[in-house]
Amino acid sequence: MEEPIRAEHSELMTLLYTAEQESHDNSGAIKEVASVFSGHADREEETLIPVLEFMKEWFSGIKQVNAPFLKGKANEFKLEVGAMINEHAQILKLFDEMNTEGEKNACLLENLRKFMKRHSVIEEYYFYPMAMYACKIIEGL
Ligand SMILES: [Fe+2]
Ligand SMILES: [Fe+2]
Repeated sequence: MEEPIRAEHSELMTLLYTAEQESHDNSGAIKEVASVFSGHADREEETLIPVLEFMKEWFSGIKQVNAPFLKGKANEFKLEVGAMINEHAQILKLFDEMNTEGEKNACLLENLRKFMKRHSVIEEYYFYPMAMYACKIIEGL
């Protein structure tokens, strides 16, 4: 099974590139979203996903883990989480500021904004708090 956060990042990047190509009035703003989101997604894939994957294994009963690697990832996640929350807000603000009046792909942009918002909300609502808890377990390894 493909890791779902990484899969959504890849879908979102594809949709952003398509929207950028097809947009007339908002291609600059979409390019800015793509630039922020690309770095943001890389950071989550480097820090959040390893911590969540640890948690998945830990709660499945797998206790043989690479503690030094995980401690490094947990520290990176804790350092980056504030910036990542700010990036969610920054990305949604860029969408809110887009002028979609007269944009022939307004529907594509609206769906992309909703997809991006849901992705960010799920991360902040469930995944970041779960990862913070996992960091505490990792500290005790
Ligand atoms: Fe994400
Ligand atoms: Fe995110």
